[in-house]
Amino acid sequence: MVTSSSALLIETDAASHQAWTITANGRGLKGRLQVPGDKSISHRSLMLGALASGETRIKGLLLGEDPRSTAACFQAMGAKISDLEAEWITVQGLGVGNLQEPNIVLDAGNSGTTLRLMLGLLASQPDRFFTVTGDDSLRSRPMARVITPLTTMGAQIWGRNNNQLAPLAIQGQTLSPIHYQSPIASAQVKSCILLAGLSVDGDTTVTEPSLSRDHSERMLSAFGANLTVDRDACRVTLHGPSQLQGQTVIVPGDISSAAYWMVAAAIVPGSDLVIENVGVNPTRTGILEALQRMEADITLENEREVTGEPVADIRVRTSQLKACTLGGDLIPRLIDEVPILAVAALFADGTTRIEDAAELRVKESDRIAATASQLNQLGASVSELSDGLEIQGGTTLTGANVDSFTDHRIAMSLAIAALRAAGSTTIHQAEAAAVSYPPFAKTLEEFAL
Ligand code: S3P
Repeated sequence: MVTSSSALLIETDAASHQAWTITANGRGLKGRLQVPGDKSISHRSLMLGALASGETRIKGLLLGEDPRSTAACFQAMGAKISDLEAEWITVQGLGVGNLQEPNIVLDAGNSGTTLRLMLGLLASQPDRFFTVTGDDSLRSRPMARVITPLTTMGAQIWGRNNNQLAPLAIQGQTLSPIHYQSPIASAQVKSCILLAGLSVDGDTTVTEPSLSRDHSERMLSAFGANLTVDRDACRVTLHGPSQLQGQTVIVPGDISSAAYWMVAAAIVPGSDLVIENVGVNPTRTGILEALQRMEADITLENEREVTGEPVADIRVRTSQLKACTLGGDLIPRLIDEVPILAVAALFADGTTRIEDAAELRVKESDRIAATASQLNQLGASVSELSDGLEIQGGTTLTGANVDSFTDHRIAMSLAIAALRAAGSTTIHQAEAAAVSYPPFAKTLEEFAL
């Protein structure tokens, strides 16, 4: 099938793979746009809704493939979730500890957040047995990071490769308290353990080397869990056992999705764009700080708080970017934005280095290798570091054939790079964008082509 316009051609093959051919016309991005709901908050609203007593109402849920995987898993365990397409979604929860043993294999699809957070819950449902799997990418991603601490708490989990890879089998148990010193700053690891701690009699504590996103802590508190958070020590304690009470959650726009348009407006001359209603939780705003350090013209407007999360409109105007070095504690606060930051760095004066980001090698693809190889296909000069990237600014990009490696963030980052490439760029397996941003191509066409 072919969907065509002057500047965006979408071809779909028999296996439903899409190739997007983008022919840039240099048009600046202008006006106001909105991005879909935050993926991390969407997952958590469905999960906590399923665990709570009573009804949870959710507005603005991301209708991407990842939250759909979460919804399907919890429906299979007895949660009643209303029509996902409706303006307000309701979840009738089961109560902590009351997930039902499903008679199917739970399928987390492409979603690491679904699988890792859910594992903490499955492991802590005594007398029930669960099996979980995911797509090719998820079945190759490391699960020991959550299985190891859960096992210390008394969990029984089996999997491939010496209990490290999905598919996994879980025999639920009554778990014991833990103080886990996580070797990595990972919200998925932290949240998995805290969710397991809901059923534990005693304190479950996680300390991380630097602060990862704190949506779980915020939402667990809002649902009535008893938490102590010490931000300076990067430590959180859940005082269990805990029941949860259904709440209303209004999901803000996803700053990780907004990042594509921030960078597009920064690098395409003549842009002046406002991205409305974006979540600006300080554990997620590393992208704003990085772009501001690169001298991007970014301002926050209309700052407010919506159901426990800070929200703002983000205005970006084109400016000449400057290279910088990014690393340390900033990285967990922008981990999903590194591919699109690399695109920004292509148009900065000087050489940008991104360090301390080895985690990128175990995301939906090896994002260090994918970003470097695919931007270089377009004529960029990007080198892989073991834990990051070195990007030469000021090279001229020329359209070419590139591939998403079925990674949504690679597909969308390449589409933004194509806006500054001469001629046409074809992105293969671009349908991956639907994992976190189903209407991305439509917005691209409307605002940038
Ligand atoms: C997420 C945490 C991050 C992030 C992922 C979503 C979450 O992963 O990359 O897209 O919702 O908790 P890690 O916790 O593995 O860093």
